[in-house]
Amino acid sequence: MIARMAASEPIPPFPRDFLWGVSTSAHQIEGAVDERVPSVWDAFTAEPGRVKDGSTADVACDHVHRYREDVALIDGLGVGAYRFSISWPRVLSPGGLDFYDRLVDALCAAGVRPVPTLFHWDLPLSVEAAGGWLKRDTASLFAEYAAQVADRIGDRVDRWITLNEPAEHTLLGHALGQHAPGRQLLFDALPVAHHQLLAHGLAVRALRAAGATDIGIANSHGPTWPASDEPADREAADFYDVLLNRLFADPLLLGRYPEGIGELMPGEVDADLKVISEPVDWYGINFYQPTKVGAPLDSGAATEFSGLTLPPELPFSPREIEGYPVTDFGWPVVPEALTELLLSFRDRYGDRLPPLVITENGCSYEGIDDQERITYLDGHLRALHRAMEAGVDVRGYFVWSLMDNFEWAEGYARRFGLVHVDHATQERTPKASYHWLRDVLRAQRA
Ligand code: NOJ
Repeated sequence: MIARMAASEPIPPFPRDFLWGVSTSAHQIEGAVDERVPSVWDAFTAEPGRVKDGSTADVACDHVHRYREDVALIDGLGVGAYRFSISWPRVLSPGGLDFYDRLVDALCAAGVRPVPTLFHWDLPLSVEAAGGWLKRDTASLFAEYAAQVADRIGDRVDRWITLNEPAEHTLLGHALGQHAPGRQLLFDALPVAHHQLLAHGLAVRALRAAGATDIGIANSHGPTWPASDEPADREAADFYDVLLNRLFADPLLLGRYPEGIGELMPGEVDADLKVISEPVDWYGINFYQPTKVGAPLDSGAATEFSGLTLPPELPFSPREIEGYPVTDFGWPVVPEALTELLLSFRDRYGDRLPPLVITENGCSYEGIDDQERITYLDGHLRALHRAMEAGVDVRGYFVWSLMDNFEWAEGYARRFGLVHVDHATQERTPKASYHWLRDVLRAQRA
């Protein structure tokens, strides 16, 4: 299939050493659940009504058994790197690390740089039973696990990601209960944020002690647009912006929590902040969309937004962004918001900002002739390039995702892949966007 170009002008040239990649995560693709101990997501999906289409990730993309085929697809795309996550429950299981050993070998043999994420939301159920992220000990356990993984594959891995989107894991998993482990603690979930940040800092130290030199974290960020200039809307938008953009980035990059937050965190917060702000070698941003936010609507009822049910007691309410196309998930497609976000990071963090990497960017659309995905990616690459021209130091870009997979509470209904997966037969079919990206990368190398 010949991919039609979404725009007439070629994508402008990125630096020669720019790192191009694709992303996945363990729970979303691996399957092979009976070859490892359970995670919080196994328990969560087993509860009726938790996943919209009633599916589980027991088989997912059966990647544990088909990884060779998947590495060939990555290789065929021509990217230099593959971001995947390591399942902590698999590492706890007999022979579990052998799988990652084989995967890393296969990637290296194909000349693709492995970029593992150590935690992408699938906490071992045994760790959850002992208190999970509400408990400080989980941070130390995580650092021990990080060291164990580095000890096994660190000879072939030079770039590491500690955590994926701790903000979503806190908000969706512990505040709203719409992801595993399904806790609905609202603002009492804040210790979950602190303990993940502490886990990150301790893991950075553990990985460096094991010889790692190139360590980052992947956080989700997006511009927050106030619904209007009214003070109540601006205040609500600022609050949301703290939760999404500053709650994690400020402690990591500035060594302090946004005003009013530190007091709500458990333990010796000042001492912990020294560990949390252990300098990273680069900072990963997962970007999908901006969010428009206004004051609570006072309806006293829960609101539905982007697949989420938001309780009325939140001090903000997201609003629809009008005037832009939307993905099948209903997310607005606003490439210029990526430029805006990157410029805002440079302005806020200045000299404290390490080089950035876009660790996720992508969209959900049905179909194999996915011209909309091409349009989305084309627009976001140009938006990224504009930010770099304006002086923001960005070193890499990873598409979410290599292939269609288990989209958490949405099940298999949302398709983010460059490669289509028939979930009944496991047949993989590269989409138009796969061919388009391969051609873009060829042109970049020429
Ligand atoms: C971010 C998460 O890291 C990933 O797991 C998820 O599939 C994508 N967003 C799309 O929602």
